[in-house]
Amino acid sequence: MRKQIAAANWKMNCTVQQANELIDGLINAKIKIGPEQEVVLAVPFPYLILAKEKLKKIPGFKVAAQNCYTQPSGAFTGEVSAIMLQSIGVDFVIIGHSERREIFGEQNKMLSEKVNTCLGHGIKPIYCCGEPLQIRESETQNEYVSAQIKEGLFHLNNSQMENFVIAYEPIWAIGTGKTATADQAQEMQAHIRHILAQKYGSLVAASISILYGGSVKAGNAKEIFGKPDVDGGLVGGASLNVLEFSAIIKGLK
Ligand code: PGA
Repeated sequence: MRKQIAAANWKMNCTVQQANELIDGLINAKIKIGPEQEVVLAVPFPYLILAKEKLKKIPGFKVAAQNCYTQPSGAFTGEVSAIMLQSIGVDFVIIGHSERREIFGEQNKMLSEKVNTCLGHGIKPIYCCGEPLQIRESETQNEYVSAQIKEGLFHLNNSQMENFVIAYEPIWAIGTGKTATADQAQEMQAHIRHILAQKYGSLVAASISILYGGSVKAGNAKEIFGKPDVDGGLVGGASLNVLEFSAIIKGLK
């Protein structure tokens, strides 16, 4: 069975003191994580080692970076490579978050290279896709998201796609308090799984965890995660509060 995942995307938030408090709070909450569930904390680069160290004995918890560069090393001031992340035991990397796409101009071609470098170093990408508001309003979101999936991922082979993680995050729902309905999430995520099945077959498509992201909160997580093609969430704002995020974790199937 594919994993059900609650992933916290801290974005560019927290001092080291707040990072300590958040991680300790989650550990002390002693949430029971089932064998088919995972909790992923995508923390800013300066706190990755801290998070790894604190969570190494806590079953079910994994650590993610929020980005990495395409190249292994060299004269790329300010960038961080997958080799570096591998060397400190990072489990996942968020690739192609809409803020990377929109603010930093990252496009599908570069993202496909980032996916390659992660997989080449044993790190699982959490590949993000999702449409802006004007695309949703023109009802062309299926084509838009299909292109993001095809251009970013369809060079991969079946075994690389097995157990992959994708996050569907409609941009109009991120940080806006405006959540897609559970039915809208299900509809798009079934579409994503359908195009994956056409390319990789239904067994591989069924093994891929597809998360929903965009204003997930304690109050709506269980309903959204209850949909058959929603395998958990990528959570921004609400992941910065121990009580909220604990409740979200408990909403996993
Ligand atoms: P949000 O962010 O939960 O604050 O809407 C989600 C994300 O950007 O990953």
